[in-house]
Amino acid sequence: MIEVGIEKIGFYTPEQYVSMEDLADARGIDPNKFLIGIGQAEMAVPTIDMDIVAMAANACEQIIDEADKQLIDQVIFATESSFDYSKAGATYLHGMLGIQPFAKVFEIKQACYGGTAGIQMACDYVRLRPNRKVLVVMSDISKYGLNTGGEPTQGAGAVAVLVSAEPKVLAIDLESTSLSFQSFDFWRPQYSKVALVEGHYSTELYLDLFEHVVQEVQAQRPNIWEQIDALYFHLPFTKMGKKALDRLLAKGLLDEERYASLLAHYESSAKLGRRVGNIYTGSLYLSFLSGLVYDQKLQAGDHVGLFSYGSGAVGEFLTGTLHEGAFTQAIRDKTLQQFEQRQAISVATYEEIYQDTLPETGVWQNESSSQQPKGYYLAEIDKHRRRYGYN
Ligand code: HMG
Repeated sequence: MIEVGIEKIGFYTPEQYVSMEDLADARGIDPNKFLIGIGQAEMAVPTIDMDIVAMAANACEQIIDEADKQLIDQVIFATESSFDYSKAGATYLHGMLGIQPFAKVFEIKQACYGGTAGIQMACDYVRLRPNRKVLVVMSDISKYGLNTGGEPTQGAGAVAVLVSAEPKVLAIDLESTSLSFQSFDFWRPQYSKVALVEGHYSTELYLDLFEHVVQEVQAQRPNIWEQIDALYFHLPFTKMGKKALDRLLAKGLLDEERYASLLAHYESSAKLGRRVGNIYTGSLYLSFLSGLVYDQKLQAGDHVGLFSYGSGAVGEFLTGTLHEGAFTQAIRDKTLQQFEQRQAISVATYEEIYQDTLPETGVWQNESSSQQPKGYYLAEIDKHRRRYGYN
């Protein structure tokens, strides 16, 4: 069977962030609760002109070249922050990026799991058509509301992956294990601007589902821990990955030695998420990218596991093999540059940005001419039609 998987990976996060220490002070909470208890140091804050389409386009721009544009047959947009019931975010991207006209474009949803669903569909498509490529983009803005329990676990960002039969970054195995369970742990009815969440229940459900998936993986592949060098997690907040590893240890599903080794890799994979927050669909792939940037112990040929989770709830355990392209300086530089260029904002400014909304009249002009973000941004809304600019 031919190898398929991730040929290229790109990431975008907004230019502003708020420090979790400042947020804790403003909320009258011990900063260590956020820094250690939840495991977040900074939270990305998108301005009103950095919507999910603009973020997605900025992530794609980093990886797509002219040759790719001719070979991409599908653009799959995974999100749970959609601003339109009918028109897919992928339709905008198709036009903005200049992808060949005979491609099909659509949006996909299952909470934070949607990105993995898109990647698995893309892999299957390419297995049957190895000369073609699929672009999968995950873009989200996580909002729970000011001064709520979920506030320290907000964030924003986009991850783009190009799936092809030249998986220079990660070849994804055909076999995977998934599990679904109908639940109300986290959801957002169409009339609500923010997510509804049963915070502690959602955390327990994640752990239970992970434990059951791992049991099933072990039933199918008894030597799984000998085959896996690192394990990446969907990280709604970075402590979640440690909780998941702790669960396996407590239930005797992992021995002490493997636990210590996976924990060391997990620390590297949590570094970027710690500075961004939850980006929902892209969160697992941000952990993966963080591992590529910081994990000195990984090398081409290593086998890794990825645990994808989406509330509601679906979990899937994937595996794959790292290739040379995962370790290029370009991936590190492009990712880290964004963090160097970000600007810290005060809690007051964050609150102002948070409360900024687009009018429902269908008419809006971006007037912050001197402060528009770099790259793609929302320029105007005209007769309810969003139009994007480039800076
Ligand atoms: P909370 O009630 O604010 O926090 O909720 P807490 O009281 O549970 O404390 C959090 C941790 O901080 C605890 O550690 C405390 O002990 C510790 P733990 O026992 O969990 O290890 N702590 C301290 N540590 C050091 N120094 C201190 C201190 N004080 C306390 N001074 C919660 C936290 C995460 C539940 C909340 O923020 C929330 O509801 N977040 C949103 C929901 C969420 O992220 N759920 C995760 C699983 S569901 C999921 O992953 C799906 C999702 O991504 C959506 C999707 O799929 O689309 C969310």
